Amino acid sequence: MDLSAQTAVVTGAGSGIGKAIAAALLERGANVVSLEIEPANIEAATAELAGGDKLAWCEGSVSVAADVEAAFALAAERFGTVHHLVNNAGTASLSLVVDTSEEDWDHIVDTCLKGTFLCTRAFARQAITAGEGGAVVNISSLNAVAATDGLGHYCAAKAGIMQFTQVCAGELGRHGIRVNSIGPGTVNTPLGAGFTVGRIGQEFLDRTLVSPARHQEASDIADVALFLLSPGAARITGHFVPVDGGQHVRGLHSYWDVAEAQGLVARP
Ligand SMILES: NC(=O)c1ccc[n+]([C@@H]2O[C@H](COP(=O)([O-])OP(=O)(O)OC[C@H]3O[C@@H](n4cnc5c(N)ncnc54)[C@H](O)[C@@H]3O)[C@@H](O)[C@H]2O)c1
Repeated sequence: MDLSAQTAVVTGAGSGIGKAIAAALLERGANVVSLEIEPANIEAATAELAGGDKLAWCEGSVSVAADVEAAFALAAERFGTVHHLVNNAGTASLSLVVDTSEEDWDHIVDTCLKGTFLCTRAFARQAITAGEGGAVVNISSLNAVAATDGLGHYCAAKAGIMQFTQVCAGELGRHGIRVNSIGPGTVNTPLGAGFTVGRIGQEFLDRTLVSPARHQEASDIADVALFLLSPGAARITGHFVPVDGGQHVRGLHSYWDVAEAQGLVARP
């Protein structure tokens, strides 16, 4: 796939899955702009990705409208029309619903769900004006369809992304813009670290259908994101695609394991 005349905005490309998606896009010649909140990640990823003039960063948060506008203004100034958007930035922390603060709820839901809305709105406005179509990939989670104790805010946000994806596919399809979401299972990234080790990690491996069982690498998610952005996926929109080695077929771990292992609650 030659993407040399194309530009993509990838949120949170300073680490993990976003970084792998940015690397895959740059490898194929695309220009990449990332809105990333963590300066240290920007510095490390800049060195690792070695994108030169084809990679630009906007430091800020996907949940702040002014930061999102700044990222798209930077993309327009440096590269012109943005053809692809990957809503990847996300965060999570574990707490039972009864212990979750309003602040934590807002932080996680705003990062995952409001950020996806703000970036999609900014992307769609400029893509509709440009009239060249485009594609959006939202990085959701298996938690969009499978609940985990201690992740009420995260599960709600990720499920919200799945339905938002379908609404956007309907509204934007007439402008030649496709919108899909990916549901990663356990992925070896800093965010996924708590779920790939110990008994929880083993529970995921036990439910993996593809042999040999393993946790996903960020590049596994990037491969599918690239396909969904590509002309090969021209007739695919509004979908939720699990990328989990089949973990979703057998359900996730026994949910008490997460809460118990994190010291949130004792098994009844
Ligand atoms: N790792 C997993 O097991 C897993 C599983 C399912 C879904 N996901 C989803 O994949 C996405 C990427 O996760 P990851 O595992 O690569 O995490 P990660 O922590 O390795 O990387 C996330 C990046 O996003 C940035 N970020 C966080 N909040 C931001 C904000 N408000 N604005 C801009 N940038 C922000 C972080 O600084 C970081 O660089 C997330 O949406 C996550 O929910 C991850």
